[in-house]
Amino acid sequence: AESVKIVMLGDGGVGKSALTMSLIRSRFVDEYDPTIEDSYSTTRTIDGRNYTLDISDTAGQEEYRGLWASQHLNTADAFILVYDITSHESLEALDYFDSLIVSAFDVEGSKKPVKIVVGNKCDLASDRRVTSEEGLGWARSRGAGFMESSAKLRVNVEETFALLVKRVVEA
Ligand code: GTP
Ligand code: MG
Repeated sequence: AESVKIVMLGDGGVGKSALTMSLIRSRFVDEYDPTIEDSYSTTRTIDGRNYTLDISDTAGQEEYRGLWASQHLNTADAFILVYDITSHESLEALDYFDSLIVSAFDVEGSKKPVKIVVGNKCDLASDRRVTSEEGLGWARSRGAGFMESSAKLRVNVEETFALLVKRVVEA
């Protein structure tokens, strides 16, 4: 199987680990246990081809950030930039994470990585602070794909990773 290296990025508490667990174990974790650094591997068949998805689940909380930066950024095929639709701040934080990607790949002739922006926690509609239009606009301005998801209800979890793989294959 072809391997696809994916890095999850975004502020603390937005749901990077919950999305990863939802994909890997089909299970939602209610408790919040901040990540330091975890990696997972899973396989999927997409458009009739087998892929191994190697996922780095990184730390969003500032005190734990940095461990992964040097190790993973410039070897990744794709990034999932996650924010929480109930927190405008978490969308603003993506400016920082995207700037890390841009500097890691700012080498002449280097292949541009695939980016997918994900507005997570769409089950919490009554607390929404970021409209879909704003999320989509931010994603487009960075050349990224866009999805809204709920790790809790497993909405657009498989779809996000399938979109990512399709973009990697096309790139
Ligand atoms: P760091 O590891 O600190 O960077 O955070 P994270 O982005 O990995 O967040 P995590 O996945 O641990 O989720 C934080 C909290 O949000 C947990 O209590 C989750 O249960 C909750 N959560 C994650 N995704 C969703 C979702 O789609 N809907 C709802 N309602 N809660 C969610
Ligand atoms: Mg985490």
